[in-house]
Amino acid sequence: MFKGDFMVTLDDVKKNKEVQSLIMATDKCMRIQGYPNHGIRHIGYVSTTTENILRLIGCDERTAVLGSIAGWLHDIGNSINRFDHGITGATMAYGILKDLGMDYDEINIITASIGSHEETKGNPVNNVSAALIIADKSDANRNRLENIKNTEDLDMHDYVNLAITKNFLEVDKTTKTINLKITMKKSSSIMDYLKIYINRILISERAAKFFDYTYVLYINDVQINNTVLTKKVRHSIEKAEF
Ligand SMILES: [Fe+2]
Ligand SMILES: [Fe+2]
Repeated sequence: MFKGDFMVTLDDVKKNKEVQSLIMATDKCMRIQGYPNHGIRHIGYVSTTTENILRLIGCDERTAVLGSIAGWLHDIGNSINRFDHGITGATMAYGILKDLGMDYDEINIITASIGSHEETKGNPVNNVSAALIIADKSDANRNRLENIKNTEDLDMHDYVNLAITKNFLEVDKTTKTINLKITMKKSSSIMDYLKIYINRILISERAAKFFDYTYVLYINDVQINNTVLTKKVRHSIEKAEF
């Protein structure tokens, strides 16, 4: 259902009072529980990154816009509870986008993406969903922990995030890889990163595969996960050994 030629934009969603209230409530709930930033900083990064991934992969302009909207709304379920926030967020987003007059088919793409973005239970179900997963899971950086005052309360998540000074995501069309390049200080370790983020890496690998790409994680210039590139190297080593 389109209202004439009207199409809902990211700006329409950003200006919506209900959305603004939910984003503030989400940030408040997450801060109180000691989570890193889930407010404008995080959703802004996820919104822009999802949109950029879709453009670079070669999706049409409208799909990229839907990605930016999904990114903006993906964490609103946290305003109710962290548990299953993807499902609650998707349900809430359905009503909001319907009220804004969005086409039903477009709403379905966005709600499926939000409902499938959690690393412990989600899977990529469409292009927007795959891009949203990769964008969301790439947002680990010390600047997400702007509220930390008392270092006595820090846990492993905090130490890992505090050690990350740079997180750079690139889509390489030539090698068909989506590369996340992390720079970490020695105050934490690659092992600790893997301990807490293994499910994020695995869902990102599945999401890149959805585009027929390979997800490659680098930490301090060391390639971490099993990829097409390392398989090539492995193959040449095996050949040399026999
Ligand atoms: Fe989330
Ligand atoms: Fe998120």
